[in-house]
Amino acid sequence: MSFDFLKQPVARDTTPHAPGEILRRLVLVGLVAAWAFAAILGVAGWAGGDAGRLRAAAVCAALGLALFVARRRLGPPSTIAPAAAPAGPPAAALTPTDGAPPRVLLIDASLTGPGGNCSRLLDALDLRLAGRARVERVALSGREALSFADLEPRLRAADAFVFATGTHWDSWSSSLQKFLEDATPAEATDLWLGKPAAVLVTEHSVGGKGVLSRLQGVLVTLGCSLPPCSGLVLSHAARLARRHAPDPAAAEDFWSIEDLDVIAHNLCQAATRREADWRAWPVDRKDYARVWLRE
Ligand SMILES: Cc1cc2nc3c(=O)[nH]c(=O)nc-3n(C[C@H](O)[C@H](O)[C@H](O)COP(=O)(O)O)c2cc1C
Repeated sequence: MSFDFLKQPVARDTTPHAPGEILRRLVLVGLVAAWAFAAILGVAGWAGGDAGRLRAAAVCAALGLALFVARRRLGPPSTIAPAAAPAGPPAAALTPTDGAPPRVLLIDASLTGPGGNCSRLLDALDLRLAGRARVERVALSGREALSFADLEPRLRAADAFVFATGTHWDSWSSSLQKFLEDATPAEATDLWLGKPAAVLVTEHSVGGKGVLSRLQGVLVTLGCSLPPCSGLVLSHAARLARRHAPDPAAAEDFWSIEDLDVIAHNLCQAATRREADWRAWPVDRKDYARVWLRE
């Protein structure tokens, strides 16, 4: 049994979002205390010939054994560790449920909610994920909009994410911006760490590639990983150009709905091959909104 993680600063790697890790540590403290009491009571009982103390020592030893078994059943430690920490958990801790298809959460961040262009693009991706992934879809706007707090258990359960947003004044939708702001306390936690994310952006004519690149940057900072060829901008202008190009070959490499085949494939590949031992750096989770300008 390794006690190395006891050396890790609690403020860094124990977050309100890692109850399993907190429980593991409490169980460890309990089992060490139980065995310590067992030893002390055992020695005292044996030296003084006190049968009561010897019985109490036996009870403590049994409790320690029960906690030892419970701790083993809780599984490997959290995947989150500060950069300077010693070797992390075994690779198996990061892989989805053995043999089962990965759980992919589609996050429709369309400004208008389900029914918009992003939803239609997600429909097309959903078809391509069929049989390869267990897909769940949520929306950040509209009548069935869910907040980050509502979504947290589903985000945690997911093995991979797909974000879809329109382009709105050169940026992503305000509902996605709100979601990202609310997600800040979960930055670099195991909710995100190492999970692959694909990004779909729709636009009328211009600005979508900037949105795609910046959003991918934000997702990596949150803790996600990016599979190759996992971001796409579907442009109304490009679709018109493709349709009306005098020479179809001239518009062949414009992004199209067919490119979702590659996105679906690469996302599933990445979601089922997460063997790496990712770590997270320290993050301020409590006071990140403080006023720092004092003049
Ligand atoms: C407020 C607003 C701002 C927009 N700004 C841009 C823009 O800067 N560039 C662009 O190409 N399209 C822009 N559009 C068009 C949308 O990005 C495009 O229609 C997108 O597919 C909308 O996705 P949705 O139907 O899922 O909401 C804008 C649309 C709205 C409503």
